[in-house]
Amino acid sequence: MVVEDIGLDASAPLLEVRDLRVHFKTDRGTVKAVDGVSWSISEGETMAIVGESGSGKSVSAMTILGLIQSPPATFPTGDIFLRGRSLMRMPEKQQRRLRGKEIAMIFQDPLTALNPVFKVGDQIAEMVRNHQDVSKTVAKRRALDLLGEVGIPNPAVRLNQYPHEFSGGMRQRAMIAMALANDPQVLLADEPTTALDVTVQAQIMALLTKLQEDRNTAIVLITHDLGVVASHADRINVMYAGRIVESGTTDEIFYQPRHAYTFGLLSSLARMDFSRQERLLPIKGQPPSLANVPKGCAFHPRCAFTTEKCTAAIPVLEPVGGDGHVAACVHSDRVAIAYEERVVTP
Ligand SMILES: Nc1ncnc2c1ncn2[C@@H]1O[C@H](COP(=O)(O)OP(=O)(O)O)[C@@H](O)[C@H]1O
Ligand SMILES: [Mg+2]
Repeated sequence: MVVEDIGLDASAPLLEVRDLRVHFKTDRGTVKAVDGVSWSISEGETMAIVGESGSGKSVSAMTILGLIQSPPATFPTGDIFLRGRSLMRMPEKQQRRLRGKEIAMIFQDPLTALNPVFKVGDQIAEMVRNHQDVSKTVAKRRALDLLGEVGIPNPAVRLNQYPHEFSGGMRQRAMIAMALANDPQVLLADEPTTALDVTVQAQIMALLTKLQEDRNTAIVLITHDLGVVASHADRINVMYAGRIVESGTTDEIFYQPRHAYTFGLLSSLARMDFSRQERLLPIKGQPPSLANVPKGCAFHPRCAFTTEKCTAAIPVLEPVGGDGHVAACVHSDRVAIAYEERVVTP
């Protein structure tokens, strides 16, 4: 494996993001898109990043892949480690070797990744040849196998078609095939099913689960929809306004939320364990502009639990029970009780 020749540490976490900050200088002021985010993921694990639109999910993923340009971004600070090696301090050539090979990304819109003017098979083969020293014939053969593996019928025919000849779901599968071309250890899936109808959504999630079982890939599942992750994620990071506000196992997040924002996200899901009038209550108000984040807890203007404590300082993530369950909410105890009783709905 390539990993050895650049001295990666096999005992370190597979991928770790530490205190990542990505700010953009704009006419409206500094947009703090990602503002001190830390997490890590192990082989075979699915870690979800959940939050409303504009909370910094995509920018964090794109920073990991080196897709954020500086400028307009002020240079990202913090660090990203792959097996203990800092991607941010590595020479650019090595970074490029790892990104796309060890870490691959799938997007909401497959046309971000697939070029409309090239045949699907050629694009996948090209991706293989970008990172592996193999002949065109071998790469094409590999593309054929990959199309079969992601469940595309008649792969030999599909290989020679263009992206526009594929349906939305099939295009998503083709993009997944491309992301898998070099057997990545980590797959960043940014809203992989958001553009698809419910049936196709379920098929794509089932495909990702199967691929993960076969290959032990770690999946970072990014979505605005907490409902999508319930049956797929091992752990969930809840993001609000560029920060993680709560992190825990999927059970902890769903059954013992400790941040008022997580409570709000749960209330906006159609859930059988909520009474009729408690179901489908969207969180009032809009997420803030990241150029102008409210003082203290960024969620306080939308929160039913707010007191003056909430504006005094930005709450930090603190342990709230189970191993690794943390929340950045000064009223985490009140949230816990209210959730138990389901009397207050933010
Ligand atoms: N190139 C850029 N210049 C300025 N602001 C940006 C840029 N890219 C993203 N942003 C801002 O960063 C914030 C987070 O965006 P994003 O990560 O795409 O959110 P999410 O994926 O959670 O919906 C948004 O406010 C967005 O407008
Ligand atoms: Mg996004």
